[in-house]
Amino acid sequence: MSSNLTWHKHTIDKSARASLLNQKPCVLWFTGLSGSGKSTIANLLERKLFDKSHKTYLLDGDNVRHGLCGDLGFDDKARVENIRRISEVAKLFVDSGTIVLTAFISPFRADREFCRSLLENGEFIEIYVDTPIEICENRDPKGLYKKARQGEIKHFTGIDSTYEVPEKPEVHLQYIENEMPEQTAERLYEQLKQLGFI
Ligand code: ADX
Repeated sequence: MSSNLTWHKHTIDKSARASLLNQKPCVLWFTGLSGSGKSTIANLLERKLFDKSHKTYLLDGDNVRHGLCGDLGFDDKARVENIRRISEVAKLFVDSGTIVLTAFISPFRADREFCRSLLENGEFIEIYVDTPIEICENRDPKGLYKKARQGEIKHFTGIDSTYEVPEKPEVHLQYIENEMPEQTAERLYEQLKQLGFI
């Protein structure tokens, strides 16, 4: 923590912004292996929320790594820092009243729990996109599994870098064979509504 700083309390706060937007701000935190469908499902869910007049913002692994986290690689230390920065940004967005969707592998439990700890109860919704690695590897949309198997990429999640499965995610999105991403997003939307998160 930096020293000699004072926290300024603003007159317009989170609840004022949230009531203007007529929504409950939160972080919908997607976690899962590369190729599991996090970004695709998060995108489709954001569309759904947007169409229902929600103010949303999607923070996506590959995109954030082009800018804010462009200086970070994939060793454990870099991944921890990646998630720390994203968590702080997500918290700011929640403070702005926004429904934030994040799509990062976020392989370490402690880092996901760090984001949870920054937020109030009920604001952090962990969504485990549980797609078996064989399916992810078979999809291999960016050809990265192939490269990792050939040793061209090091520290690849699920191959030579760990993925810590969520123990108690708010939503466990299990893989269903032949289900279209749109159907998965719909299933998720209904579940989130049922659980009272959105
Ligand atoms: S995280 O582990 O720090 O949460 P993040 O979600 O930001 O990862 O980035 C993952 C994306 O980076 C993957 O979808 C993939 O496109 C790309 N990538 C490049 N190298 C690796 C690697 N070694 N392990 C995992 N993903 C990688």
